[in-house]
Amino acid sequence: MDDTITEIAAALDLAPTGRGPAGPAAGRVFHRMRLRAQEETTAQIAGTYPFVAERGFQADGAYIGRDRFTRGAFTYDPFELYRAGLLPNPNVGIFGTIGSGKSSLIKTMALRLLAFGVRFVVPADTKGEMARLARAVGATLVQLGPGMGKALNPLYAPPMPARMDDRTYIELMEQQRLLLLTALGATASGRPLTAREETGVEQALAQLTRQADHIEAGRMRQPNLAEFSDLLLNPTQDMADSIPVPLSVLTDDCLDLALRFRAMIKGSLKGVFDGETAEVDWNKPGVVIDISRIRASDAGVALTMTCGQALVDQILTFSDHQWVRILDECWRQIRYPHIVRRISEGQKLARGDDVTSGSATLISLHRISDLMGAAPEVRELALGLLADCSTRIIYNQADDQVPITQSTLNLTDIEGELLPRLPQATALWKVAQRSFLVDHTVLRDGYEWDLIQTDSRMGTRKYETVEDPDAAMAEELSGAPSAAREPEAGAA
Ligand SMILES: Nc1ncnc2c1ncn2[C@@H]1O[C@H](COP(=O)(O)OP(=O)(O)O)[C@@H](O)[C@H]1O
Ligand SMILES: [Mg+2]
Repeated sequence: MDDTITEIAAALDLAPTGRGPAGPAAGRVFHRMRLRAQEETTAQIAGTYPFVAERGFQADGAYIGRDRFTRGAFTYDPFELYRAGLLPNPNVGIFGTIGSGKSSLIKTMALRLLAFGVRFVVPADTKGEMARLARAVGATLVQLGPGMGKALNPLYAPPMPARMDDRTYIELMEQQRLLLLTALGATASGRPLTAREETGVEQALAQLTRQADHIEAGRMRQPNLAEFSDLLLNPTQDMADSIPVPLSVLTDDCLDLALRFRAMIKGSLKGVFDGETAEVDWNKPGVVIDISRIRASDAGVALTMTCGQALVDQILTFSDHQWVRILDECWRQIRYPHIVRRISEGQKLARGDDVTSGSATLISLHRISDLMGAAPEVRELALGLLADCSTRIIYNQADDQVPITQSTLNLTDIEGELLPRLPQATALWKVAQRSFLVDHTVLRDGYEWDLIQTDSRMGTRKYETVEDPDAAMAEELSGAPSAAREPEAGAA
């Protein structure tokens, strides 16, 4: 009998049996499990061992936080990943309900990427949230609004870079000025400019350049908007002759537009475009244009954004560095076709041939449907913005947003279900085809903590929870709530 048991045990490859302790439930027998050793390469082991998660990127990057699955550090640098061939473009899209932690991520990312030589530009800081960061790192901070002293000059000319020759510099500047003034004119009049008006703008610009004979001390003269609008209002014989049309016709053609430009320096935007030209130094670690104090109509804000954007584009054209262009709360911008077009063009430029320079565009929105909800003429463009972001970072989403988010971003069912349950500061990162669940880390006792506080009255409360994201968003849309602006004033 004993023999047979041993034989059977041997045949089954069982360990010698043990006997359980005497007493109730005695007689239990333990088999020691013996598995045959299995040798695999690391590439295959992810398949044979189902619990193995992501191995992270094999590229340098700024520390973001902790990967929930591997418990390892999660690092990210869009330029490094792009260079390593892991991303088709360095652009980033961030989605999340109010208070989910988007701005905090943006600020710490901008700060941490500085160590990797990546600088930041914020063309339109609508909430005035970036000022503290700008001061902390010594970035250029342009604060616009009544009594702020500095103005955005659409005819601003940066100093000529050393590597550039006169001709290229002048051509680039003329082109950029023309584009900007046409865009401003179109925004101010709420329609595209007529051919006659465009010609008027062109002639007025040429006249200004003619007068001032360009470059002195390595820089083009910077006329102000008042000079420009005066010329448009009273065109010169020279301008009429070079088209040529009778002077009275040119004057008539430009009258409407001239009055629009004149309104930009007289009305609610007084001080924004005229005054001492704000100087932008692109050798500093960043540039922030703070428009939170501007109390103007939607169109007025759009004009300011357009101008800020153009200034930023100049910086990117004239400097050799890597920049990340930050458009937090981008849904405001998405209402204006030419602004969206410009963002989209910026995204496309991201892939410079030269890997040491270039720009990445980072947009943040509350939800994907903000893009779908754009006006019909911009919807296509707005959706294009998303297509050009290879990195999508998704924070908490309301339940009703799950289906659209899931289908638009190609999320798995599990990932989709996760979204409404994501706690503050935790996001699903889709980096090209790969997924990560990341807790964004900001140390409470570190110097970053103060930079991310968006509401000083929150005091020691750990999380700013939003009970009803839709209502909160409606409130924000209906006209800036005081809460968003007060902290900055308090901090100043
Ligand atoms: N990683 C984090 N760690 C701790 N607190 C955070 C973190 N991210 C955000 N918070 C808190 O949440 C608040 C709101 O975050 P914020 O980034 O402004 O949200 P959003 O921009 O998405 O509306 C911050 O003021 C901060 O107190
Ligand atoms: Mg925010």
